[in-house]
Order: sequence, then C-alpha cells, then structure tokens
Amino acid sequence: MNKEEMIKKLYDSALAGYKNAYAPYSNFQVGAAVLLKDNNIIYGSNVENASFGLCNCAERSTLFAAYSKGYRKSDIVALLIVGKTKDVISPCGACRQVMSELMEKDAYVFLSNLDGKIKEYKNSDLLPYVFTGDNLNE
Ligand code: THU
Repeated sequence: MNKEEMIKKLYDSALAGYKNAYAPYSNFQVGAAVLLKDNNIIYGSNVENASFGLCNCAERSTLFAAYSKGYRKSDIVALLIVGKTKDVISPCGACRQVMSELMEKDAYVFLSNLDGKIKEYKNSDLLPYVFTGDNLNE
C-alpha cells in the first residue's frame, strides 16, 4: 500500500470513529484510526463523562483498543486523527505521552481535519524529552 492509499484508508476509518464520538459535554467530536502491519485498521473516538476528568481522547481510545486486541507497538504503522478544526487537529499532551509509549518512534502520525487537510509527522516529532519506562529504573 502506498502512502496515499494508507492515508485514504485511515482517513475514512477515522471519520467512522468521529461519527461515533460520545461528546455530549464539549460537543467536540474526534476520531482516530491506526493501520496495522497485517493491514487491519482499528478506529476509535473520544468518549466523555459527566465527571470531566474521565473523558478519554480518540487517540487513546484507538490505541487502547488495538492493544486490547493484542497488537503491540511493532505492529502499528500509522495513526491518523481527525477533528473539526480550522487547521489540522493537534493531539493533547496526555495523548502524546501515551502515543510515545504505545507506538514506535518512526510510526507515522497524520493530523487532519474535516476539510481533508493532512499534516504528516513521525511519532517522535510530537513529544521531545519524553518520560519513559526507562526513567523509572535510573
Ligand atoms: N480530544 C480528543 O479526543 N483528541 C484530541 O486530540 C483533542 C481533544 C477530545 C477530548 C474531549 O472529549 C474533547 O475532545 C474536547 O477537548
């Protein structure tokens, strides 16, 4: 699959996640999708709660779903995120921390919006000087 096909597949799947968002408090829907090396795609959405601190972002829902199915970081080729933003959506700090642990440094991260604008990054571009599990043993 070339990069264009990869982005198209991921974008369509992330839109399905966007439509499933449970966001009654912010009314801000977000969708995300990961492409696996076996060509499967897993998508997810933000899921909110009346106890606001318990809201879960689409990126984390998606990565946790992939891990729950048994996939691990070496299986993940790319993550795409979509939201209704003017420019492409930007993942929050908590998600960047989770992404840095659950995906390889060189995994693609595509940020997009409902207009179909896409920006491409590597996972490691998004969180410099990250805290890792290795730091726990120093
Ligand atoms: N949100 C995401 O799901 N992903 C992002 O990248 C930014 C924010 C969600 C969290 C919350 O449900 C809503 O968007 C408003 O912050």
